[in-house]
Amino acid sequence: MIADSFGRVHDYLRISLTDNCNFRCFYCMPEEDYDFTPASRLMQPGEILTLARIFVENGVKKIRLTGGEPLVRKDAAEIISALGKLPVELVITTNGTRIAEMLPVLIDAGIKTINISLDTLQPEKFLMITRRDLFHQVRSNIELLLHHKITVKINMVVMKGLNDNEIRDFIDWTKHNPIQIRFIEFMPFSGNKWTSNKMFSLAEILKTVEKDFTVLPVKAEAHDTAKSFMIPGHEGSFAIISTMTAPFCSTCSRMRLTADGKLKNCLFSNGETDLLTPLRNQQEILPLIQSCIWSKKKELGGQLGEHFQQLDADSINNRSMITIGG
Ligand code: GTP
Ligand code: 5AD
Ligand code: SF4
Repeated sequence: MIADSFGRVHDYLRISLTDNCNFRCFYCMPEEDYDFTPASRLMQPGEILTLARIFVENGVKKIRLTGGEPLVRKDAAEIISALGKLPVELVITTNGTRIAEMLPVLIDAGIKTINISLDTLQPEKFLMITRRDLFHQVRSNIELLLHHKITVKINMVVMKGLNDNEIRDFIDWTKHNPIQIRFIEFMPFSGNKWTSNKMFSLAEILKTVEKDFTVLPVKAEAHDTAKSFMIPGHEGSFAIISTMTAPFCSTCSRMRLTADGKLKNCLFSNGETDLLTPLRNQQEILPLIQSCIWSKKKELGGQLGEHFQQLDADSINNRSMITIGG
């Protein structure tokens, strides 16, 4: 079992397969010419499997593959197939562009839920946010997943003045589709141009939905990042991920392994523990994992409690989102 000093058991590992992505979303990656990590510094498929096995043998029940965009990695199929054989729930967060060609591999690996990042339902705005004209490809891939009865959650980062006017359209999408829309409070990472007035909060999101619909809370699963809700008569549902105004750190069970093999004990921690070099040097890994998680802070979500409004994203001494994987 892997636990921290506050008694939180950590059984959910997020593995970033790459910091590369075929999108260029401004809120996720720094604008200046961004150098992706060279392949030699990335964990290789066998190394990912060895590390994942250590985590699973020590209580990890769920592994989420993230990126950058996990499916742009050339050996993604090999990695996913190998991880699919471990006794663990395997899931993935993706931008949805490579689903069609990867579907057989995903299904074969036992993946039953896929989280897709999609911040707008308008093709021109999609192009503006991602700088790629692939809206229709993502939409048709979502249809493909639904056709195969795979559970789909849509991650929509709500940014004031950019897409907060689309909350109603996303809710309308749930009327006849069994999807869950997760509205996410915009979070600060170095270089991502976050300011508190671009954030659309949990309270504002709820108020917006309640203007037009009856909203009923749904009991949360333990350790959920999202507060869930349903609307009577809608086949799908919605949820809100409120890291900034209502953090969920007290039940946090998550660890993050970056594509270059560093373990982070929190999304917002600036410390990290190198596992890849010790693995290559044939050192023991478990004690490194245990001491990294033991040193986890009680709470870093909410970004300094009620003072987050004064926060300057560039002063956050953390990796950018694209190298953490969310
Ligand atoms: P489920 O396992 O389906 O509940 O997904 P998830 O929310 O754990 O993962 P996903 O990759 O879909 O992330 C959705 C949003 O939640 C992203 O904005 C993540 O950055 C954020 N998120 C995921 N895990 C954590 C966490 O441990 N802490 C915080 N503060 N945010 C998180
Ligand atoms: N704030 C909130 N969520 C973010 N994501 C990426 N950058 C941010 C941010 N600055 C989300 C993406 C993706 C998930 C892994 O993290 O929408 O779905
Ligand atoms: Fe866990 Fe850190 Fe997220 Fe809080 S901010 S929920 S401690 S990862």
